[in-house]
Amino acid sequence: MSGPFDRGLSAADAGPGRTPGTAGPGRFPDAAVDPGAGDEERVVESALRPHSLADFIGQPKVARQLELVLEGAKRRGRPPDHVLLSGPPGLGKTSLALIIGSELGTSVKITSGPAIERSGDLAAMLSNLAPGDVLFIDEIHRIARPAEELLYMAMEDFRVDVVVGKGPGATAIPLEINPFTLVGATTRAGLLTGPLRDRFGFVGQMEFYEPAELEQVLARSAALLGVELTAEGSTEIAGRSRGTPRIANRLLRRVRDYAEVRADGRVTRAVAEAALALYDVDHLGLDRLDRAVLEALVLRFSGGPVGVATLAVAVGEEPHTVEEVCEPFLVRAGLLARTPRGRVATEAAWTHLGRPVPRGGVPLGRGTPDPQAPGSSSETLFDA
Ligand SMILES: Nc1ncnc2c1ncn2[C@@H]1O[C@H](COP(=O)(O)OP(=O)(O)OP(=O)(O)O)[C@@H](O)[C@H]1O
Ligand SMILES: [Mg+2]
Repeated sequence: MSGPFDRGLSAADAGPGRTPGTAGPGRFPDAAVDPGAGDEERVVESALRPHSLADFIGQPKVARQLELVLEGAKRRGRPPDHVLLSGPPGLGKTSLALIIGSELGTSVKITSGPAIERSGDLAAMLSNLAPGDVLFIDEIHRIARPAEELLYMAMEDFRVDVVVGKGPGATAIPLEINPFTLVGATTRAGLLTGPLRDRFGFVGQMEFYEPAELEQVLARSAALLGVELTAEGSTEIAGRSRGTPRIANRLLRRVRDYAEVRADGRVTRAVAEAALALYDVDHLGLDRLDRAVLEALVLRFSGGPVGVATLAVAVGEEPHTVEEVCEPFLVRAGLLARTPRGRVATEAAWTHLGRPVPRGGVPLGRGTPDPQAPGSSSETLFDA
């Protein structure tokens, strides 16, 4: 990529230039179930991207609404409203942004929030847009404030102020820009400022995928990769993909390697099971670190409640890794609960680890005595 701005759209579209592993702090860069992607993976991914709305699987709500927005704009012969796509990594935001361009038959100029260092960079980009172009800003929540302010006027009035000169003599010269559509993508919609969010006419909230939808993604990818994937093999992989197409595609590639080296190349259930066991991805999609956290919570802290810092020490990880990398999925999978007194293993967690659920249910409000908590010592004194 040269500078912050990629001209035109190439097949190997630019990612936000994340270094491997930064999407999943602390998890080793190549972790099978990291929802983020490294630079190399982004190149592989572009070959598997859907190129039209018809090709885009799942997200029925966002896809149908977007279809209307685009169709309406085409009929009016004007660029559609600005579009914000928000949701966790790997659910198809970049794919959809590129699809918007191809559905409109316009080119997509790609950049990202962190790549726009000075508002002048953004002004140059905006004034280079052809009428109707799509400007895709990935990780838009990370855009610098001066650039964001410039964007307000551009989005609303198709105008930017170019500042000429310095100090008291500086003057702002308004510059007309061509009507365009901004497509912003963010994994952290909460970090967007109100004024920026308000300027998007359409906000698409991406949801995690159902296993059946992931099976469709896998069938499509297998065909593109020339892999023979049986229905059972697909079910096996989809179930471990954490509702995320990126993870499904990655697991498929790993299982394919295994199938080619250790079997006859066909991805059957048995092959998928053996391969994913080798890569330490269990049948719910937990990897080694997720399981370590769960095991520590259940076995060492009797199911909790226990503070996240203590839990992190027990698995030899940084607290923020446990909190940001493992917990979101464990919570979503219903295995771990965050309570005011600390982390608690749910009944499903005990069952998942093959342990009998404690009598009287999960120890909500019981467990590791907190020495600072009033009454905790008397509990230990008088408990039979
Ligand atoms: N609906 C879908 N149908 C088919 N494949 C999909 C779909 N959504 C995502 N994928 C696949 O998943 C991969 C990741 O998708 P994409 O890069 O669009 O995610 P993202 O939301 O932009 O992630 P990030 O937040 O990390 O940028 C792509 O290679 C694409 O092939
Ligand atoms: Mg993306």
